[in-house]
Amino acid sequence: MSQWGERLSAEKIAYRTARLIADGHLENERALFVHDLDLMIDRVHMMQQAFPENALHGIAVKANPLVSILTALIDAGAGLECASIEEVELSLAAGCEPEKIIFDSPAKTHDEIQYALELGLYLNVDNFDELERVAKLRKHDSRARVGFRVNPEVGSGSIAITSVANAWSKFGVSLSQYEEELLAAFLRHAWLDGLHVHIGSQGCNLQQLVEGVSRVDIFRQKLQTQLGRKILHVDIGGGLPTVYRDTRQPLMLDEYVKQLRDQVPAIFSPDTRILTEFGRSVHAQCGWAVSRVEYCKVAGQSHLAVLHLGADAFMRPVYNPNDWPHEYLVLNPDGSLKQGATQAVNLVGPLCFGGDILAKDVMLPKIDEGDWVIVRDCGAYTLSLWSRHCSRALPKVLAWSDTGVSVLKHAEGVQRVVDFWR
Ligand SMILES: Cc1ncc(COP(=O)(O)O)c(C=O)c1O
Repeated sequence: MSQWGERLSAEKIAYRTARLIADGHLENERALFVHDLDLMIDRVHMMQQAFPENALHGIAVKANPLVSILTALIDAGAGLECASIEEVELSLAAGCEPEKIIFDSPAKTHDEIQYALELGLYLNVDNFDELERVAKLRKHDSRARVGFRVNPEVGSGSIAITSVANAWSKFGVSLSQYEEELLAAFLRHAWLDGLHVHIGSQGCNLQQLVEGVSRVDIFRQKLQTQLGRKILHVDIGGGLPTVYRDTRQPLMLDEYVKQLRDQVPAIFSPDTRILTEFGRSVHAQCGWAVSRVEYCKVAGQSHLAVLHLGADAFMRPVYNPNDWPHEYLVLNPDGSLKQGATQAVNLVGPLCFGGDILAKDVMLPKIDEGDWVIVRDCGAYTLSLWSRHCSRALPKVLAWSDTGVSVLKHAEGVQRVVDFWR
């Protein structure tokens, strides 16, 4: 079994890709995504072992929404966390039981709330107005459980756009600003029995994550005393960062849980249920992408390799490379690992704008037309952020497992793109 946070080694990825090439999986493809299902399932099992047995692990659908991947997660005992009603439908299509679906959108409509209540999902409300909509629409015998998202304001992490526990966050309700109103809301609605917190995705350190949960639990203790009833559910969100470089130390799940046990022991008591919403730390290291090198050219002093994956597949790395770095490998056309002296190269994408550069001046063995470039650690927030710019079709996605290779999604094909825009 792998360790939490352990990346697939360059050798392993190169070997596997060479096998895929030899077996013809890339014969007619410009590009390909691969996801290691065994590694992903290992992570789910590690979470199940680290947290109490009754915890619900809602893996964030937004990190990787492929239905077959969701089904594999469900089969391993996980639930799913959804940021939209469409993700709820994806989860149902994957076979998830409604009571294992956590619905978290900050913009739920009346109809969506009614549907979620009828299905019996776990619903986290984002604000007081949404809570009153729930109160109006909820039948007294509803099976749906409802929690309230609060913001413990532990501050931003190192990546601004994915930090959500700052004072101006658009998510949830500030604990310090609205403590009395929150108390009144829990007093008004006896069915409200959960608290939800999510600090940010990547870039938040362990202390921030633990402090966020701790502040929420301090409030929970106060609430319980004033209400005279238990607040049963504590949803600690996702946000456990992952590493994209061997030089970085992964933040270990066991260490996170140990610190939570030390600093927030009450959430581990048998009469409380912990919910988690991990995405990136489950998926990122399971995936890699492969692109054929279509052309090589020199512009000014720069060597360029033109790939079939750019800002359409790697929106965040292209627009904000400092926050979202990836590592690359080069294979010869036959799949063998390219060796030899390295040189600086710009890996450029296929889209029609000058900034479509996946990596600038990255040191790699000399790249030639027909080689393959591999992008490591792209199992999370890559396929799910696919962009329609220039209308290029989504490549095929394969599952890698010890039991064999299977297709998770066929290449989209030009006709499906035409239909999309029709
Ligand atoms: C509410 C919520 N839960 C969970 C996640 C998943 O975060 P991560 O993929 O960093 O674990 C996110 C990410 O944006 C989120 O907004």
